[in-house]
Amino acid sequence: MNEKKSFLASAGPNTLLAHIGNDPMDYHGFVNPPVVHASTVLFPNAATMESRAQKYTYGTRGTPTTDALCEAIDALEGSAGTIVVPSGLAAVTVPFLAFLSAGDHALIVDSVYFPTRNFCDTMLKRLGVSVEYYDPMIGAGIESLIKPNTKLVHTEAPGSNTFEMQDIRAISTVAHRHGCVVTMDNTWATPLYFKPLDHGVDISIHASTKYPSGHSDILLGTVSANAAHWEPLKEANITLGICGSPDDSYQILRGLRTMGVRLDRHQESALYIARWLEEREDVARVLHPALPSFPGHELWKRDFAGSSGIFSFVLKAESKDRFKAKAHAFLDALSLFGLGYSWGGYESLALHVGLSDRKICAAPSEGPVLRLQIGLEDVADIRKDIEAGLAAAKAV
Ligand SMILES: Cc1ncc(COP(=O)(O)O)c(C=O)c1O
Repeated sequence: MNEKKSFLASAGPNTLLAHIGNDPMDYHGFVNPPVVHASTVLFPNAATMESRAQKYTYGTRGTPTTDALCEAIDALEGSAGTIVVPSGLAAVTVPFLAFLSAGDHALIVDSVYFPTRNFCDTMLKRLGVSVEYYDPMIGAGIESLIKPNTKLVHTEAPGSNTFEMQDIRAISTVAHRHGCVVTMDNTWATPLYFKPLDHGVDISIHASTKYPSGHSDILLGTVSANAAHWEPLKEANITLGICGSPDDSYQILRGLRTMGVRLDRHQESALYIARWLEEREDVARVLHPALPSFPGHELWKRDFAGSSGIFSFVLKAESKDRFKAKAHAFLDALSLFGLGYSWGGYESLALHVGLSDRKICAAPSEGPVLRLQIGLEDVADIRKDIEAGLAAAKAV
């Protein structure tokens, strides 16, 4: 057989997803890797035990199964190395602990995933790190917020729930000029639609719980680093002992194989629903970066190769005291959509977005914000269900 690696170097994204990670010939030709459950790893003799000069030494430091996933993620991200951690939230907290120390200052985007903010405002503060939130649209203007002790700039684009875009290249360039590490939560786009390391980011963070899993049944996170940041990230992972399990890693690798075709469908249906909602007179605004009407659209068009299946819309309401009643009427009238947190699975989900945590990004004033995860169901059924929700909200 010819060398597969060189073929894959110029292959398309779905071909890559089908073939990256494990090499079947490393394990008797079986297409999928074995799930190796391990704490103990044996050494052949005392000298090897002392030098640890073998590939695997202990379960927390990687197994053939977690390595298969890490290698697949490195191929997608273009990273020097990847760690696997037990949740998407841990994929944020582990690099923060790796690169921040007492006395440091961190800049965090204000449209950040709320549990990231909670970690910063509680544990990071307790450990002596000061945290400041910045406007997602700040771009190169972030320079004015950088202090001599600023060590980390965290980005997330689009932002959680309200989908603000960020000029990742401009922010990274300025941050690097001041010696800061740039991290990015890229869960929304996946490396298929945006490759953070190609845009200057040092650490790319993913909740694999979402699209890589695709089935709402696994919690896992990956953190991928460029060459300059790989050693300290790996070291922090080993020091903290926060490692993902082989079973979950296997399931995420399995999910990756179909992620491209699933994302195509999520993208197509979400765009159809977003455009349809935008035309309705009971909808004030649709918060979806791939719509030309969205303020960050030009950045999305410049940098991203696609859009995934989650966005929000603002339902029109006459006065603020009706926001909650209208939002609840919409949600309670849904049959197909589940009311649940998370996203990236095969099924449609909806929730009423709370924005009281925001310090800079003002919540929309026209009405309640409703977030939709558009699943893999037939789009006519998805639309029919939303129509029922909108009719119920209108009656409030
Ligand atoms: C943007 C983003 N990052 C990280 C996470 C955390 O993922 P997990 O649920 O696996 O902790 C989520 C979960 O909703 C998320 O939306």
